[in-house]
Amino acid sequence: MEQTYAIEMLNITKRFPGIVANDNITLQLKKGEIHALLGENGAGKSTLMSVLFGLYQPEEGVIKKDGQAVEIRDPNDANALGIGMVHQHFKLVECFTVLDNIIMGVEPCKHGFLQKAEAREKVLALSEKYGLRVDPDALVEDITVGMQQRTEILKMLYRDNEILIFDEPTAVLTPQEIEELMQIMRNLAAEGKSILFISHKLNEIMAVADRCSVLRKGKYIGTVNIKDTTREELSRMMVGRDVEFVVHKEPAKPGKTILEVEDMTVASKSHGNNAVKNVSFQVRAGEIVCIAGIDGNGQTELVYGLTGLEPLKGGRITLEGQDITRAPIRKRNTMGMSHIPEDRHKHGLVLDYTLEDNMVLQRYFEPEFVSKAGFLKRKAIRDYAERLIDQYDVRSGQGPVTVARSMSGGNQQKAIVAREIDKDPELLIAVQPTRGLDVGAIEYIHRQIVAQRDAGKGVLLVSLELDEVMSLSDRILVMYEGEIVGELDPKTTTVEELGLYMAGAKREGA
Ligand SMILES: Nc1ncnc2c1ncn2[C@@H]1O[C@H](COP(=O)(O)OP(=O)(O)O)[C@@H](O)[C@H]1O
Ligand SMILES: [Mg+2]
Repeated sequence: MEQTYAIEMLNITKRFPGIVANDNITLQLKKGEIHALLGENGAGKSTLMSVLFGLYQPEEGVIKKDGQAVEIRDPNDANALGIGMVHQHFKLVECFTVLDNIIMGVEPCKHGFLQKAEAREKVLALSEKYGLRVDPDALVEDITVGMQQRTEILKMLYRDNEILIFDEPTAVLTPQEIEELMQIMRNLAAEGKSILFISHKLNEIMAVADRCSVLRKGKYIGTVNIKDTTREELSRMMVGRDVEFVVHKEPAKPGKTILEVEDMTVASKSHGNNAVKNVSFQVRAGEIVCIAGIDGNGQTELVYGLTGLEPLKGGRITLEGQDITRAPIRKRNTMGMSHIPEDRHKHGLVLDYTLEDNMVLQRYFEPEFVSKAGFLKRKAIRDYAERLIDQYDVRSGQGPVTVARSMSGGNQQKAIVAREIDKDPELLIAVQPTRGLDVGAIEYIHRQIVAQRDAGKGVLLVSLELDEVMSLSDRILVMYEGEIVGELDPKTTTVEELGLYMAGAKREGA
C-alpha cells in the first residue's frame, strides 16, 4: 500500500538576501509520528517550519496535506489546514490570562455573547487529557516558562490542530520540564497527532522521536529511523564530521585568587525576599568553578551583582585584589571581567546594530578602534570582526554588515562568545554559554573555555545543563533558594547526588 503522509514538503527552496536558507528540501511527516528535525544553528530548520506555517513563501516547491497539494499563504491558511506551531520565542500576551490567550481569535460566541464557560471546559478537558498542567486564570506574566509553553500547546489543541510544530521547545526548559514535555509529546502522538520536533539535542531526539530528518547548511542530508541509528551517526550527519562528546582536560592547577565574593546579598525583583543570601566564594586562576542549580534559585541575580547589572544589598566583591563592589559596568570590563550573559537579546547584543559593531561594543573607545579626533576606524573594526567571524565560525547572511537581529540564535550566541573570549579577560563569567547551540558548536565553545582556564584565567560558569556541569567544571557550587548549599567535586560526585542538592533535599552542614 502506498503511504500517504500527513504532510509532505517537496523540493522546498527559500532564499534570503545572500543565503539559500532552504535548498531543495524534502520532508515527509507520517500521521501519528514524532518526527525530529535536526541541524546545527543556521541549518534552516526554523525557516522550513515557517514555510509550513505560512510565515514565508518559498521560491520553489510544493506542500501536500494528505496527498493533496495545498497553498499556505499565511498562518490562517495553516490553521485552517490543522497546522499549529509553538515558536522558539513564545507569542503570548503577557497581561492576559492563560485562558484568554488560548481562546484569543477563536472565542466561542452565541448570539453575540462570549461563551467563556464553554471555552474553559474545553481547555480543562484538553489539559487533563494530555497532562498539560496550567492555571487558566493566571496571568501569563506571572507563570513559569514551562507553563507558558503548555499554554502555547493548548492553543494549538484548542484549535483542533492535527499537525504540531515545536521549534526548539526544550531550549528554555529545566530538566524536569523537559521530561514532562517529552511525555506530553508521546501522549499527543498516541492520540494520532503528527509532530515535528526541532532540536539539536541528540539525547532528546533519541528518547522521543520515531524518525529524524537532518539538515546541514540549508541542504537536506537524510532521514533515519531512530531505532536504527546512534547519537554518533546523527551528529555526523548534522555537522559532517565526527564529534567528540567528552571534554578533554587536564586536572586544574588553581593559582592566585581572581574573584573573591564575601557575604553577597542581592534583592529580588519579583518577591520580597533576597534572591542571593550572604553568598561567599572564590574563583582562582586556572580553574572552572560552576554554579549549578535549577533555574530561578538566584543564579541570575548573583551574576547581575557580579557584573554590575544590579547593585548589591550587602557584601563585597574583589577582582584581582581590587574592590569592585560599586564599580560601574565598564570599569569591571576594562579591569578584565568578561560576561557571556544569560539573555543574549537584552544584555548581549544590540539587535539593530551590525555584527561588526556588536563585536566592539565594549571596546570601540580603545585606540585600536577610534582615532584621536574621535572617529571610529571603520576598517579596523571590519578587520577585527572578520577575524572573529572566521575564527569562531559565526554564520550569517552578509558577514560583518549583517544586522544582528536577522541572525539565528546560535550564531548570535557564537558572536557573543567570540567577543567575550577574545577580550582576553582575567575572569570569564559564562552564563549558559552553550544554550541553544548544537553539538559541533558546543564542542568548540567547551574547548575555548578549557583553553581560557589553561591560560590561567578564572572561569565562573553558570549552567542548568547537568552534562555540561559535570564535564566542564573543576569545582561545583550548588545554589538553592539564594544560598550555596554545597560544594562538590565533579570527579567524585554523581549526577544523582548533584540532583539532590539542586532540589534542596540535601545540604552541607545539615
Ligand atoms: N528573516 C530572515 N532574513 C534573513 N536571513 C534569515 C532570516 N531568517 C533566517 N535567516 C538566515 O537563514 C539561515 C537559516 O536560519 P534558520 O532557519 O533560523 O536556522 P535554524 O532554525 O536551523 O537555526 C541562517 O543563516 C539565518 O541567518
Ligand atoms: Mg531555529
